[in-house]
Amino acid sequence: MATGGAEQLVTWRRDLHRLAELAHEEVETAQYLEQQLRAWGLDPRRPTPTSVVADMEGSDGAGPLVVLRADMDGLPLTEDSGEPFSSTHPGIMHACGHDGHMAILLGTAERLLARDFAGTVRLLFQPAEERPPGGAVELIAAGELQGARAVLGLHLQAGWPVGWVGLKPGPLMAYSDRFHIRIHGRGGHGSEPQSTQDAVVIAAETVMSLQTIVSRRVPPSETVVVTSGTITAGQTFNIIAETAEITGTVRTFARDLQAQVEEEIRRRATHIAAIYGAVAECEYLPGYPAVINDPVVVEEWARLLEDVATVEQPPAMPQGEDFAYYLQKVPGAFLWLGAAPAGDGHPHHSPHFRIHEDALPLGVTVMERGARHFLAHPPAQRTR
Ligand code: NI
Repeated sequence: MATGGAEQLVTWRRDLHRLAELAHEEVETAQYLEQQLRAWGLDPRRPTPTSVVADMEGSDGAGPLVVLRADMDGLPLTEDSGEPFSSTHPGIMHACGHDGHMAILLGTAERLLARDFAGTVRLLFQPAEERPPGGAVELIAAGELQGARAVLGLHLQAGWPVGWVGLKPGPLMAYSDRFHIRIHGRGGHGSEPQSTQDAVVIAAETVMSLQTIVSRRVPPSETVVVTSGTITAGQTFNIIAETAEITGTVRTFARDLQAQVEEEIRRRATHIAAIYGAVAECEYLPGYPAVINDPVVVEEWARLLEDVATVEQPPAMPQGEDFAYYLQKVPGAFLWLGAAPAGDGHPHHSPHFRIHEDALPLGVTVMERGARHFLAHPPAQRTR
């Protein structure tokens, strides 16, 4: 049975860190969470095989439903953080802080155990944030957001100091999509280019043309990234390549720009190939949509935290996060919680990744205050 406080948060976080599991395989993690929730007399359920959802009804009567979300999955990395509580699952590591998110949500639940509120708090432990299409869509399909008036989530940020909270109205994180271009030319002898359609030359020209989408087709006021991550072509130095493949990623913060960039990539790929008499196929695979925070929720949540944190407005970041799907359904917000470790820091998704555990108690305060406030003052319902 939990005794509360910072020490307990650290215990939960380290236990969950040791148990790191991949997307959709969060079996031991789910069991651990269920065990703790049951010990409090809660009745957790599994709307999907490894998700854990528990409702806490307030004793002060009927009221709105507020959803609090924590993601559960680790990453396919061999941990090299040097922490004494490193992952016991070979090749799998909590290298993004999701272990901390779960500990914070448990800590939040514990603070709400007195049920001294009106309405319902739903604890949503979500699998598979790291693997698109992501666990959020499954929980939405299972009806877990139905009737919710607000949804809140947070992410630890190892690049920012403990005590720092980042909250931003509107776009916070990007549409993060993939593209895949296959060029079909005609190969031949390296000394006879006139009888070929050189897939290497076409690929090179295509990559350079993609670079001008951002500089020439997108308004300078907008943030867009087009990155060609791989080019694969050719077998040896004196043979002209018949085929080439380009893969890359696109980050945008608005639906119309996402559509425009997709169209630009398709047009450039197919037309450049056509110039040389070759053919290009372009596949565009949408990833997570942009995380778009409700401005009213952001303003009110930020005000609640001013006396416990340094609340700042961060720039939008071109990373993806499937919390975006919840925000398409229900007003809410996603915030950054500073967690820079003592000593050398390492980026998220690094095998050396560490967080500062002093961030955990602030995370609990952030979620508890948000939950209580939006139970008492739910955001206006969207008309759809
Ligand atoms: Ni993450």
